[in-house]
Amino acid sequence: MSSGAHGAFRFAHLSDPHLSDLSAVRWRRLASKRVLGYLSWQRRRRHEHRPEMLDALRADLLALAPDHTVVTGDLTNIALPEEFASARRWLQTIGSPDRVTVVPGNHDRYVRGTWEESCGQWSEFMRSDAPPDGRRADDPFPLLRVRGAVAFIGLDSAIASPPFMAIGRIGATQLARLESLLEGLRGRGLLRVLLLHHPPVPGEEKWRKRLIDAAALCALLRRAPVDLVLHGHRHRALQSLIRVPGSAIPVFGIPSASAAGVLSAHAAEYNVCTVTPGTGGWQVRIDARRQDAASGTFVQRPLASFEVSRTA
Ligand SMILES: [Fe+2]
Ligand SMILES: [Fe+2]
Repeated sequence: MSSGAHGAFRFAHLSDPHLSDLSAVRWRRLASKRVLGYLSWQRRRRHEHRPEMLDALRADLLALAPDHTVVTGDLTNIALPEEFASARRWLQTIGSPDRVTVVPGNHDRYVRGTWEESCGQWSEFMRSDAPPDGRRADDPFPLLRVRGAVAFIGLDSAIASPPFMAIGRIGATQLARLESLLEGLRGRGLLRVLLLHHPPVPGEEKWRKRLIDAAALCALLRRAPVDLVLHGHRHRALQSLIRVPGSAIPVFGIPSASAAGVLSAHAAEYNVCTVTPGTGGWQVRIDARRQDAASGTFVQRPLASFEVSRTA
């Protein structure tokens, strides 16, 4: 289970691979908002989200062999059933479902679809260690997976939104479940890592792309905190804080795992989080890994290093 030195637990965070190639998609299949998404992919996004970038990142990730990998959504572009199937095959190349955790992004709910044809194809990667009694298979969030000293808590912020919008919402039901889940983790001596697609801090995302209940989530985290929040959606490296009584929760966003950097100037990266146990808590270190364009090798740069008290 532990790949690092001194009992360290190491996990990778990647996001927004947008990995599907839509060139073979027939026009007649593109009802509703999908037409706009397809045109956007044809005109712009296919030049930015490149399979060779994602392949290089995956090769580096596999060589690094983290204990766990989390993927914070937007694996697809316009949420066609075959995009979910190909994303599932790709996830299987990253690791077995017990070592890879996925939460959906807004592109994975681009239009309304059935659970079985859409995110349900990734259900093994979203299944809690012990799903609560009576919970339906198509309603797995928030998920809870404990690996080593880390509790991964996954939220679903993905909703189908109107054209030209990419908003997210967690919803009252999921927030209530999250609060009781976090209460249940109190005192268990686990490092609590919250995963969601949309940035959680109000005002840090454009209005049309925001998480509409970000303020409610942050208020909840002030009552029942976590130790770290990881998200995607913005396609860039971001660091933020959620203020909680006596402390602040670090928040990290990352570029798209397939970005060539031609449209955004934010080329593909992934983060590696190393959790090392110490007296009374953990040392948490986060590094970003990116392919150097000249040499083709991946280079690592430190992003943050902080201590988390086990009694926090
Ligand atoms: Fe995305
Ligand atoms: Fe997104």
